[in-house]
Amino acid sequence: MKLSVIGCGYLGAVHAAAMASLGHEVVGIDIDADRIAMLAAGRAPFFEPGLPELLSEGLASGRLAFSTDVRDARGAAVHFLAVGTPQQADGHAADLSHVDSAIDMLLPVLSAGDVVAGKSTVPVGTAERLAPIVASTGASLVWNPEFLREGWAVKDTISPDRIVVGVAGSDGAPAADGTRAADILRDVYAASLAGGAPYIVTDFATSELVKVAANAFLATKISFINAMAEIAEVTGADVTTLADAIGHDVRIGRRFLGAGIGFGGGCLPKDIRAFAARAEELGRGESVGFLREVDEINMRRRDRAVYLVKAGLGGSVYGKRVTVLGAAFKPHSDDVRDSPALDVAAQLHGLGAIVTVTDPAAIDNARRVSPQLTYVADRDEALRGADAVVLVTEWDEYRRGLSPEHLATLTEGRVIIDGRNGLDPAAWRAAGFEYHGMGRP
Ligand code: UGA
Repeated sequence: MKLSVIGCGYLGAVHAAAMASLGHEVVGIDIDADRIAMLAAGRAPFFEPGLPELLSEGLASGRLAFSTDVRDARGAAVHFLAVGTPQQADGHAADLSHVDSAIDMLLPVLSAGDVVAGKSTVPVGTAERLAPIVASTGASLVWNPEFLREGWAVKDTISPDRIVVGVAGSDGAPAADGTRAADILRDVYAASLAGGAPYIVTDFATSELVKVAANAFLATKISFINAMAEIAEVTGADVTTLADAIGHDVRIGRRFLGAGIGFGGGCLPKDIRAFAARAEELGRGESVGFLREVDEINMRRRDRAVYLVKAGLGGSVYGKRVTVLGAAFKPHSDDVRDSPALDVAAQLHGLGAIVTVTDPAAIDNARRVSPQLTYVADRDEALRGADAVVLVTEWDEYRRGLSPEHLATLTEGRVIIDGRNGLDPAAWRAAGFEYHGMGRP
């Protein structure tokens, strides 16, 4: 099928390349000429395992193209909308200006029978508002939220664990053009569906809520275990053993019970805030009032890591050399948006520490956001002479690839703060290090 993808950021670039790999003919459109030039040359504008290969294959096959001219989207059966919905500059709600301008840009190229499939994360009610605008061209709108994780984006797009499609309708029944549009999307995703992924056709509101509910649940799970970490800290309990033990209950499950410096990135933080803001608008703020607590617990964990560095250095970090292992919001990513790791580094710098940050992928992005910090790409070089070391992004080269014996040959001090509970405390203590974890004795 011929497809277009409007917006070639994280979501759109991966979606375009993945759809081409499934055999579709895809054009990715973006107003950012530099980004389009990179993609058209087969280079990924961000770190995402597997994406460069997919881009090269797609471009070589002739099925994948990129353009800044929306007219190149003409003739596509489905136009995916994959633009960003960041947090508004002056509040917690989502900024929908990119979605609105993408729709405006797309209208002149739409033909009767086309499907516009919104993938962006939007406040509930957005699709209902946009549907008549799209319908004025004879095209149909569906909402098809995306659940990909950065670092696993290619796999998650090609083999999703579910596909959700919200269609127009009334009183719980889809309209005729909604059913037709859902059938067209089913064809687009036929290869993924053959792998057994459930295909859930629902109304607009449910599809929009599925997305934010999923992210709200994940954020709540992380903050739940971080709340337990706070209690562990005043009782001498070990939150990692607690998480293992409750995680054996299949109703709870161990995943996303990793206590540490908390969640960040371009999705979870802004999505829970936008959800709470939308619930307020709907007069149901109290229903998701707990998301404020989720957010606050999350932010407190960054302060806890900073406190542990201070404690490890005798009460003050002023003038002390601190090496921060990690800048990305999580491993396998170069994304530093709302990164707890970078925030901890910046806080330490603000307290007068001499901070050196290293990261296998995120240094360039981190430097743009926090130019006041010193960045050293080579891990061992970054560690040399440190009084204290803080692990904040659990890349393998820090978690598994760094032994206490080796670190001892590099650092001045013997203090390690494990902001992700990724290290074995017994091994580090046995090697003479003062080890501080998050919610661990
Ligand atoms: C998240 C969701 O997991 C995706 O399903 C969703 O599609 C995506 O947002 C989105 O809305 O686009 P992502 O932002 O890539 O994906 O990151 P996650 O893997 O969810 O991790 C989020 C943060 O939680 C990271 O900072 C990570 O370090 C932290 N985390 C994760 C913990 O602190 N503890 C855990 O146990 C797990």
